[in-house]
Amino acid sequence: MNIDFQGIPRVQLGYLPTPLERASNLTRALGGPQVWFKRDDLIGLGLGGNKVRKLEFLLADALTKGADTVVTTGAAQSNHARITAAAARKLGLRVVLVLRGAPDTPRQGNLLLDDLTGANVRLVRWATPAERDELLIQVAEEVEAEGGRPYIIPLGGSNGLGALGYVVAAQELQAQARQQRLNVTCVITSSSSGGTQGGLALGAKLFGAPFAIWGISADLRSEPLQQMVIGVIAEAARLLGCPTLEAKELTVFDDYVGPGYGIVTRETGAAIRLVAETEGIFLDPVYTGKAMAGLIDLVKKGTLGPGQTVIFLHTGGTPALFAYQKELSESKW
Ligand SMILES: Cc1ncc(COP(=O)(O)O)c(C=O)c1O
Repeated sequence: MNIDFQGIPRVQLGYLPTPLERASNLTRALGGPQVWFKRDDLIGLGLGGNKVRKLEFLLADALTKGADTVVTTGAAQSNHARITAAAARKLGLRVVLVLRGAPDTPRQGNLLLDDLTGANVRLVRWATPAERDELLIQVAEEVEAEGGRPYIIPLGGSNGLGALGYVVAAQELQAQARQQRLNVTCVITSSSSGGTQGGLALGAKLFGAPFAIWGISADLRSEPLQQMVIGVIAEAARLLGCPTLEAKELTVFDDYVGPGYGIVTRETGAAIRLVAETEGIFLDPVYTGKAMAGLIDLVKKGTLGPGQTVIFLHTGGTPALFAYQKELSESKW
């Protein structure tokens, strides 16, 4: 089914709107602001997550351009790769996943699910983003040489087109918050390749939503992340023909990355356990666990306090839990 967002093709892949759920037990445990969860982990397709919204626009573009093979990239435990594979298969497209990792990486978590979709998984190494993007072009050329029609989706699905999924989500969230009569201070989201925070921030401004979008970095330092998000916003704004945002309008925290991308900190483990114990909700070790560690710390510091309302965007990623069994067991201090 095709729906239009300002004339831009979109395929329906997720069950929308996703639930907005009150987290009373977590709120009590933290003794701070009212916490609500926006459950994009329950969006449906391929075990869910934020990429589904981006792919509604990206794969519509692929179909419009007559592509038959989707090529994308990420880490070995990429949620984006898993959901892209699931979505592409649903639409009858072939998939090549160029993933960063050793050939003998255990087929667990997302990698196992990639395999079950019948995706062509290539575990390779690269040193720089430019090298990675070069690899994507090489694979696309290979597909072409074999008579296929490739469509490259960038890391995390984070270009202007993908970010439109979260521009739309901002409107959805605004309507839900209004319905619940919530006076929302901020929406907290994990931020990595920029499309989720960027789309939400642009959408919030576009639709006059009265809440700020705070991004908690999963890997980069604040400044490069902010630049990346701003770049994605500028591209999305061009597509929509609306004004873009300035860097100073974005709030990004890099205090919760720890030693690096995909490395579970003590605080991440504790945050995952607290949310599972109080709400029966499973976060993930790479993105939402760190974002929740951030929310908890911001409550401890008094940046967020009683009387305020915070929406935590659950962007998914739970299949990666199964690839982090050792680290998460060790997080039981
Ligand atoms: C579960 C999860 N949360 C958050 C993010 C970050 O979203 P974005 O890349 O749009 O910044 C990702 C990206 O890969 C993800 O997989």
